[in-house]
Amino acid sequence: MAKKIFTEENFAKLDEVIQKYKDTKGALMPVLNDAQKIFGCVPLEVQKKISEGLNIPMAEIYGVVTFYAQFSLEPKGEYVIGVCLGTACYVKGAQKIIDRIKEEINVEVGKTSPDGKFTLEATRCIGACGLAPVLTVNEDVYGRLVESDVPGILEKY
Ligand code: FES
Repeated sequence: MAKKIFTEENFAKLDEVIQKYKDTKGALMPVLNDAQKIFGCVPLEVQKKISEGLNIPMAEIYGVVTFYAQFSLEPKGEYVIGVCLGTACYVKGAQKIIDRIKEEINVEVGKTSPDGKFTLEATRCIGACGLAPVLTVNEDVYGRLVESDVPGILEKY
């Protein structure tokens, strides 16, 4: 991975967050949210710190991290490609779009390319069904896609 994420500085930030929420009820979610922002992911090393800091069992933390899509165990790529697999998009051929992206960048759904550039994700409905099928790259949204649009979109990044 190009960027170093497990720096002392980041762990110091995490400590601050833990101290801030330590004595509040329901501290886990806000701490995890901040951890995801600080590190770009919540891997086991980070979960362990949170577990010790908040006195919450690792198993519980792991369960939460793997349940909610906003948390990831591995660092995400510089660009996160989300292909909506909600009903409207699915019906309009989202699977073909995913297959084409996989082929173009050689990455499986849920994985990051070895150079750390792209992460491919399948998402739920993002509320743009009128534009189905839809894909997002970070904050950018592309709609009414056909398979052959994929290479041109990826080229921009
Ligand atoms: S189903 Fe894809 S945006 Fe709603």
